[in-house]
Amino acid sequence: MAESEKKEEIASEVLTEETLDNIQHVNNPVLDVPAIEKKYLGKPTSYVKSNNAFIFSDGKASVEVKVFADEIIRVRLAPQSSFLDDFSYALKKDLDLHPTSFSLEETDDAYLVKTAVVVCRIQKADFLVVFENVEGKVFNADHKPLHWEENVDFGGYYVYCTKKATADEAFFGLGDKSSNLNLRGRRFSNWNSDTYGFGFNQDPLYKTIPFYIGVTGGDAYGIFFDNTFKTFFDFAAEKNDRTSYWSEGGEMQYYYIHGPQMMDVVKRYHDLTGTHYMPPLWAIGYHQCRWSYYPEANVRDVADQFRKRQIPCDAIYLDIDYMDGYRCFTWNKRYFPDPKKMIADLAANGFKTVVMIDPGIKVDEDYWVFKEGKENRYFCRRGDDYFMEGYVWPGRCQFPDYTNPKVREWWGTLYRGLVEDGVAGVWNDMNEPAVFGRGTFPGDVRHYYEGFRGSHRKAHNIYGMQMVRSTYDGLKKLQRNKRPFTITRAAYAGTQRYSSVWTGDNIATWEHLRIGILQLQRLSVSGLSFCGTDIGGFTGEPDGELYTRWMQFGVFSPFMRVHSAGDTRDREPWSFGPEWEAICKKFIELRYKLLPYIYTAFWRQHKYCEPILRPIALLEQEKASNLQREEEFAFGHNILVSPVLNPGQQSKIVYLPEGDWYYYFDNTIYHGGQELQIDTPLDKMPIFVRAGSVIPEYPVMQYTGEKHIDALRLNIYFGERRQDSDLYIDHGDTFAYEQSVYNEKHFIVEGKKDCLTVMQNQEGLYNERFDTYKIYFIGLPFNVNKIDVDGVSISVLRDEDNMPYFSVEKEFRKLTIA
Ligand code: GLC
Repeated sequence: MAESEKKEEIASEVLTEETLDNIQHVNNPVLDVPAIEKKYLGKPTSYVKSNNAFIFSDGKASVEVKVFADEIIRVRLAPQSSFLDDFSYALKKDLDLHPTSFSLEETDDAYLVKTAVVVCRIQKADFLVVFENVEGKVFNADHKPLHWEENVDFGGYYVYCTKKATADEAFFGLGDKSSNLNLRGRRFSNWNSDTYGFGFNQDPLYKTIPFYIGVTGGDAYGIFFDNTFKTFFDFAAEKNDRTSYWSEGGEMQYYYIHGPQMMDVVKRYHDLTGTHYMPPLWAIGYHQCRWSYYPEANVRDVADQFRKRQIPCDAIYLDIDYMDGYRCFTWNKRYFPDPKKMIADLAANGFKTVVMIDPGIKVDEDYWVFKEGKENRYFCRRGDDYFMEGYVWPGRCQFPDYTNPKVREWWGTLYRGLVEDGVAGVWNDMNEPAVFGRGTFPGDVRHYYEGFRGSHRKAHNIYGMQMVRSTYDGLKKLQRNKRPFTITRAAYAGTQRYSSVWTGDNIATWEHLRIGILQLQRLSVSGLSFCGTDIGGFTGEPDGELYTRWMQFGVFSPFMRVHSAGDTRDREPWSFGPEWEAICKKFIELRYKLLPYIYTAFWRQHKYCEPILRPIALLEQEKASNLQREEEFAFGHNILVSPVLNPGQQSKIVYLPEGDWYYYFDNTIYHGGQELQIDTPLDKMPIFVRAGSVIPEYPVMQYTGEKHIDALRLNIYFGERRQDSDLYIDHGDTFAYEQSVYNEKHFIVEGKKDCLTVMQNQEGLYNERFDTYKIYFIGLPFNVNKIDVDGVSISVLRDEDNMPYFSVEKEFRKLTIA
């Protein structure tokens, strides 16, 4: 049986169980077993203060309300008044949050924990917790007091929180869910799962991001339920007027994050869980992947084809078949007799090599990784202390316990050989963790969990995150000052600190193109901006049109990689014939032109916590509860796209947010705040640039860094509203940016009927390699008589296409064109 079939068979078993589970939920509201007894908080009768926190008690149970910042308040429940250890894998280590002030006020009917922005009201009559702004507008309120079950049959506490849902409330976030953007009316669970060929609304998938954003009455707030056990969310699904979240174990512990803008909530969620490090520039180029390119001649041939056809590409991936019998950290010497030489030759031709590493380590006494792991007891053990075993690609395997820092340290060192061979990036897969036949590990498997030991029920959802963390840390040490590139399939909240992600084994259908667009927007507002889909679809066969439309969306995916299953036909940009190849080439070239803009969007994410993909609801919050064009999104600050989702589609309706927008392909200007019918011939897609933007552009290169840039092109789009744009530049592959060795430029553009001014200021210590800007103005409503740069007038030049441009010193501060 082919590997993919084997996997499919296994996956369908898992799917059936899951489907059954859902059916039982839906069809079984009337149970003839006694109702499960839930315990509720009583009335708060006393409180104590402890640093930034107040602990309220009903005489038996305690609730801690802790002020993290003016806009972030955490609520925890201890049913027996003893809180669990205050440890979280999600939070960034150097959390630097402080409220400007906070206080506790007691009134006749409530305790009020107040910050400069938020009031957390704890009602004396019923212990309900209500969050309001200082003007008294309720953003989020308990429907019932916090509750729990102490039923030993369930192995501990089940903890619940039920909030009121208002009639117009919309819900966003929650990571990689394959549902419509607004989550209202649906239930979800979080249990990282290997879901080959998943479908629309299938749940759970590969990642656990228990963070959502609610928008009610035009205002936004967020809830981050930091609990690594299997968690559940109900967004006004069972009952229209309430939203609940609960867990099979651990503590009820959630952060209320105040808005009122969705963007504020998303940024503050990043303040808690961190942002992506800056990726190496090559990591945001185009990547070509396949299960699997082998032997070496095949890899070289694919690389040569890219260069011969002049289609830009920065990275080639080696999937599991490069290994010796799927033993991680080894090479199949029959297929790859001299990997170091091959990788060096690829590198000389501008290609980086990325390899797959899975967590399953083959049980083989002659295999050094297995021997080291076994001798040091690095592998996970069952409740009875025997090593946990399961079958994955290599056959019988054992699995490292990445929740142990010693194991992570060891795992990080295992990459030494690959790094010495020249490997530039690592792809961690199957880390939900996936086990053939049984889905994942048995629940009794023990994990070290940073010393706060627990079973697999507690560690399952963070297993993949801790794996890629150890990969990232290991690579960072081994590659010295170079930025690692890692990608992971499984994730928990905060994984952005260590890795990029992709959405796993999707299908080559138009529906999946749409699902992918929703997933990436959702991941982006859930902290994981560096995300992508398998362009073209992993399993199944796209035709040239679907492949090409997906490639167009890929240009606007923060991570841009084509990947496909082993049993599918060829998937290189030229595989569908010359007509499609030409369009794909044009769009991949567009990606390379936009690289300085995209790199800047990554910087804004890293430094200012701004998501890279922004749903329309985030741009115009009043649209949140009635979102029409879910597939439309802003890519960074100044570009809006609406991917084409149907075969044969010659035009589509696009909604343009308020303001003026330029259609990218011909610079026609449109007024926003309305819907438009836009032509979508195969070689175009709706791409709009905000009026007043400065869009930096690189010349087309076959790989990042191929050409030296003497003059950086800036496209300046006329606009009458004052508009901000940014440009970030650094070495592209070192950590010097952490010492301010970068250059961040800020442009302000303001147009009038007869003139346009552009102001520039900059900060940072990096001296970029170009000396001048090559400035093109787009959409000027007047004839140019004069351009003045810091008091000196300059003249117009013409490029090779006879287009007018201006050559301007890169340090300019103010430029006026009239
Ligand atoms: C999993 C991954 C897929 C990979 C395959 C073989 O299905 O999701 O991307 O190609 O395993 O390693």
